[in-house]
Amino acid sequence: MRDATEGPEPVNAGSPADLLGKTALVTGGSRGIGRAICLELASRGANVAVNYRRRGDAADEVVAGVRDLGRSALAVGADVADKHAVAAMVSKVAAELGEPDILVNNAGLLYRGELLDYDEDEFDSMWRVNVKGVLHCSAATAPGMMGRGWGRIVNLSSNAAIGTALPGTTLYAATKGAVLTLTKRFAFELSPSGITVNAVLPGFTKTDMVLAGKTPDEVEALLRNVASRSLVGRTGNPEDIASVTGFLCSPASGFMTGQFLLADGGRQDYLTRV
Ligand SMILES: NC(=O)c1ccc[n+]([C@@H]2O[C@H](COP(=O)([O-])OP(=O)(O)OC[C@H]3O[C@@H](n4cnc5c(N)ncnc54)[C@H](OP(=O)(O)O)[C@@H]3O)[C@@H](O)[C@H]2O)c1
Repeated sequence: MRDATEGPEPVNAGSPADLLGKTALVTGGSRGIGRAICLELASRGANVAVNYRRRGDAADEVVAGVRDLGRSALAVGADVADKHAVAAMVSKVAAELGEPDILVNNAGLLYRGELLDYDEDEFDSMWRVNVKGVLHCSAATAPGMMGRGWGRIVNLSSNAAIGTALPGTTLYAATKGAVLTLTKRFAFELSPSGITVNAVLPGFTKTDMVLAGKTPDEVEALLRNVASRSLVGRTGNPEDIASVTGFLCSPASGFMTGQFLLADGGRQDYLTRV
């Protein structure tokens, strides 16, 4: 038996093929958590549109990974904060892969910023991507799902939204709190039409977002610090978050809507300062 501290099973081990015939659009699917979600959904049978902003090369690699799993895939560049670009992206996905049945609003930005030390332009950028991006992508895909009477929208929030986050991330946390509010309200608006809307709140997960630009020593110290605060004694891998997201995209979660699933290894430092 695997120990909890060992990390997840290898990618997608044992995923049920419960999304056969479905089309999924994953924003920010080129790297990190989004990449793992694309592979999880493909392993469950979905065809996957891999959205990216800048890293088309990384998105192409994810597309190849999805195809290796026997599914169709498409890389689609678009800034999720740009309403017109999002509409064009959804049209392209519909034409080349099928209308999205599943939307994972994963694309996100993290800039440091707190009450007494923030850059207004950076806060605006985070708001546009983390909050307006969720709105634009949901608005562009929900009508098609409503027409078919089935859909799944999963929003990537953060444990930051409920107060646990690294120091200096107050304004990022505010954007992720807004994602929770949108999740509840979209669920209210869409669930009667057969579309569930839920949120995943990842804890610290090893991706570029939290590790880029740090020295190996800084990375090691950070990982040790965060791991020491969790009950399972480790930090998250993208696959830990992808498996939870995959469940919320599946038929098995059909009786859940407007819900928030925290996947943080049992963090024990809520609202502490260090
Ligand atoms: N990592 C964590 O510890 C953690 C914890 C809690 C919540 N989260 C949330 O989980 C989600 C994924 O985070 P991550 O750690 O995987 O991030 P990441 O490694 O920084 O990857 C970010 C992804 O988002 C894409 N992206 C950024 N801005 C975009 C835009 N305007 N339009 C379209 N795509 C855009 C990037 O595309 P390019 O490749 O083209 O740049 C990339 O695919 C985010 O919403 C994040 O806030 C992460």
